[in-house]
Amino acid sequence: MKNVTASSEKLLIRTLKGEVAERVPFWFMRQAGRYLPEYMKLRAEAGSFLDLAYNPEFATEVTLQPLRRFNMDAAILFSDILVIPHALGQELAFKAGEGPVLTPVNDVRTLEALSMEGMHDHLSPVYQTITNLSKKMPSGVALIGFAGAPWTVATYMVGGRGSKDQASTRLMAYQDRETFSKLINLLINSTSEYLIKQVDHGAEALQIFDSWSGSLPAGEFITWCVEPVQKIIENIRKVYPDVPIIGFPKGAGAKLKNYIKKTKVTAVSIDTSMSTSWVRSTIQPLCTVQGNLDPLLLASGGIALENAVYHILDHLKDGGHVFNLGHGIIPQTPTENVKLVSDIILNYRR
Ligand code: CP3
Repeated sequence: MKNVTASSEKLLIRTLKGEVAERVPFWFMRQAGRYLPEYMKLRAEAGSFLDLAYNPEFATEVTLQPLRRFNMDAAILFSDILVIPHALGQELAFKAGEGPVLTPVNDVRTLEALSMEGMHDHLSPVYQTITNLSKKMPSGVALIGFAGAPWTVATYMVGGRGSKDQASTRLMAYQDRETFSKLINLLINSTSEYLIKQVDHGAEALQIFDSWSGSLPAGEFITWCVEPVQKIIENIRKVYPDVPIIGFPKGAGAKLKNYIKKTKVTAVSIDTSMSTSWVRSTIQPLCTVQGNLDPLLLASGGIALENAVYHILDHLKDGGHVFNLGHGIIPQTPTENVKLVSDIILNYRR
């Protein structure tokens, strides 16, 4: 164990950088959202999800809401991974019961209509939200910025909506590799600039969400998930060599090891399917891990939930660990369950 007394850095930041500290820090993916009545209230006032996300005052408030109830060690910027395609000029709407709907970008013509020219103007409300937050963060709480990884963002851009198997995007990657590579390159460049701007405005750590990386075979995973994230991280580190970056290649399984080595992420988020004993022996020696409670168990509650929380804490306590879920909180989650889990983690000692 490293000496923890001398550091003035926040617990989350120290832990991401590899310190095995006095307590396990925690936050939850989608911690701001529909399971909170106070979120629903502001969401109704704002009108649509995008009106909420692009309103700095509302987005700041929504980001801070979960901290007031549960004392997390981090807040995550309230926005969405799809603001990047939107900022590049793609049409985007969030439809009730349907999720995101975009006008598909799946050939040379639709790709060439996109541009990074007005991107930062479009994203200025997001940067303003980060500036607001950096002044309002409770002491000791770190602000996490984020973006989607190129592959996952591309699956929505090409498909025009979410899908179970990302088939249309996988087909495009096989059938029109040249155009698809250009789309991925555009996303590498725009996402790199976007994340650097987030740090400029006050983000203290970054997470890159690759929610759909599990749908690719090993070779394609290298080309479309590992290499783009590797380039984004190289670009960020030229400007900010020390900012911790969490990678979340969901569904990567055993490919996670190579992902860490190649991308040089500071930490990885592990999904619910991963065995914590395998993670302890294979992944924790490489970097800090974040995860991996099943969000459905958080929604169900009871003794099974408590046991699972202790199981994760006990298995990962000897290495770098940030407690989190294996994916986002679902809207049906009772707030009492989130409180219960938060209290267990806050009282747990290694
Ligand atoms: O609290 C937080 O975690 C920060 C905010 C955040 C949102 N989306 C807000 C949101 C973050 C980090 C995301 C990431 C995101 N968005 C991902 C990657 C992580 C993952 O969940 O896999 C993806 C794939 C998206 C795209 C997206 N956004 C979808 C598919 C949907 C519809 C599904 C749903 O839950 O409604 C969204 C909408 C969305 N993004 C909501 C929120 C709070 C719900 C919008 C609402 O209020 O109706």
